[in-house]
Amino acid sequence: MRKIIIAANWKKYLNEEESVSLVYQLNDLLNLKNYNHQVMLFPDANHIPSILKVIENKYSLLAFGVQDPSFINKISDLLSDTFYEEISLSIVGHSDRRINHKENNDTTLKKLSELKKYSGLCPVLCVGETEAQKNDGFTLDVIKKQIPKNINSSKYSNECIIAYEPVWSIGTGKVPKNKEIETVLNSIKSLVDENVKLFYGGSVDLNNVEKLLEINLIDGFLIGGASTNFESLLGIIKKVDKFLKKN
Ligand code: PGA
Repeated sequence: MRKIIIAANWKKYLNEEESVSLVYQLNDLLNLKNYNHQVMLFPDANHIPSILKVIENKYSLLAFGVQDPSFINKISDLLSDTFYEEISLSIVGHSDRRINHKENNDTTLKKLSELKKYSGLCPVLCVGETEAQKNDGFTLDVIKKQIPKNINSSKYSNECIIAYEPVWSIGTGKVPKNKEIETVLNSIKSLVDENVKLFYGGSVDLNNVEKLLEINLIDGFLIGGASTNFESLLGIIKKVDKFLKKN
């Protein structure tokens, strides 16, 4: 049966109290119901210790990650030995890093390679074209350069994810047509090992998630803005669940 992963990238949207409260609500809910999906959370790294205290001693279906490998050292000091049990993911190459921190493909690929030394961590490599690159017809070329050769899950934990996030779609409300996403995902699929999971990210919300689920190649969504509010995140989870049960 198809499984869908809902990955919430909270960036710097929430303060510590809001992050903790959202995890608390979500955790209780996920423990009560038996859904057919997984939820991954990428909170502000500074909030992770408080968040983990909230879910301590509770069975949880949530997986946690950092928004960039540069946060790993900071957090691993705070969490000491429990780090590897609690943090299982790291986003790499998000457009925030590429744009605001001027990180290019080389920096991103270096970070991705460094992740291998943390054997328990699954990378979520973000790739995507800018609006100008799309308009010039360079989407597939750009993405090809953002993906390292021979990327496969066995190099990391047993998981590895590539998230297609068109830069022009992030936080703008603009979403590519399903056909366009399919073309890109097919192209990525042809470059990577078959066990690499494929996500779509960029303005995913309650109104478009069902349509996007029609793309069979999608294993999950990386969601920013719409994941930072409980009702909205819960609504997305319910729609995904309903879709999976129906299909
Ligand atoms: P968005 O962000 O859902 O707000 O467009 C996605 C992301 O930045 O990963």
